[in-house]
Amino acid sequence: MSTLTPHLSVEKVTHSRLNELNGDQVAFGKVFSDHMFVASYENGSWQEAKIVPYGRIEMAPSLSALHYGQAVFEGMKAYRSQAGEPLLFRQDANFERINLSAQRLCMPPISKEVFMSGLMELIRLDANWIPSGEGSLYIRPIYFAADELIGLKPSDSYKFFIITCPVGAYYSQPVKLIVSDQYVRACEGGTGAAKVAGNYAASLLADQEAKAKGYDNVIWLDAIHHKYIEECGTMNLAFVIDNVVVTPKLTGTILNGITRNSVLTLFRDMGVTVEERLVSIDEIAEAYDRGILMEAFGMGTAATIAPISTINYQGRDLTLPTVAEFKYSHAVGQKLEDIKTAKCEDSHGWVVR
Ligand code: COI
Repeated sequence: MSTLTPHLSVEKVTHSRLNELNGDQVAFGKVFSDHMFVASYENGSWQEAKIVPYGRIEMAPSLSALHYGQAVFEGMKAYRSQAGEPLLFRQDANFERINLSAQRLCMPPISKEVFMSGLMELIRLDANWIPSGEGSLYIRPIYFAADELIGLKPSDSYKFFIITCPVGAYYSQPVKLIVSDQYVRACEGGTGAAKVAGNYAASLLADQEAKAKGYDNVIWLDAIHHKYIEECGTMNLAFVIDNVVVTPKLTGTILNGITRNSVLTLFRDMGVTVEERLVSIDEIAEAYDRGILMEAFGMGTAATIAPISTINYQGRDLTLPTVAEFKYSHAVGQKLEDIKTAKCEDSHGWVVR
């Protein structure tokens, strides 16, 4: 075992599993790279951090995160440039967001040194796991309460892991979404803007029911009026209505997506009009009926830019037969991909080599 800094030690695998990987056929999120990063928070400070072979962790059934859900996570990706160098995309934004999520769940902030040194060293070590070509290395930081205790209070100890997995597309084809009129994802004052594990758990029943009806996911509406579109749970949403990109504004109940922010920035760079505002589902249905709903798409780290082929609302399918011709989302998706893989100028300074 070698020590890189006083805080970060590295134990490398003796045998890489990389050559067991069948590159083109990896299901999203099922195969993990050789190493993982782990740091512990105890007695009011971040303790020794280490990179170790990816593997199972021991936990007590009294682990506080399992009972009271103090658990937050992030999603980010590493790419490979044409010259083969590993590239990260907007990791500062993920760092900031995990600490906002942590603050919402009463968890101490992760130190920047712990987050960045662990991330950089892990990606350096497992750089060969970044697929060349279409894919990327999905990076999952996960931070959770580690007290072994029954009793509701913020934990005194925490664990922070970073694991990675080579991935291709999250959605292999245009997605079909159904508007949920029975459940809500988030309400004002709740945790909707935070990337907390509980938000995803709470979405599963509606998603399961959507899948039983032949849809991929749910479109969530606001909790008060049951009228304004929020997000999809796996991604933020945007629509092109009469050549204007329209997306639900950040009301505090939807995730402040880093892909969302990047896409809107790039659209503005391209001179496209972008409106961040309340978007009602009736407005979308009306735009569809008037023939001016040109595109609908999701934006997320895992999902990237996901074209939406169908929106079901109150039993009616709004089907976008033009999905193959979505020129706005296609153009912005291509631009984003080119930036992430250093194929074009990165005027916003989003990419780190
Ligand atoms: C991501 O896009 O990174 C997420 O965490 C969404 C998840 C459903 C895969």
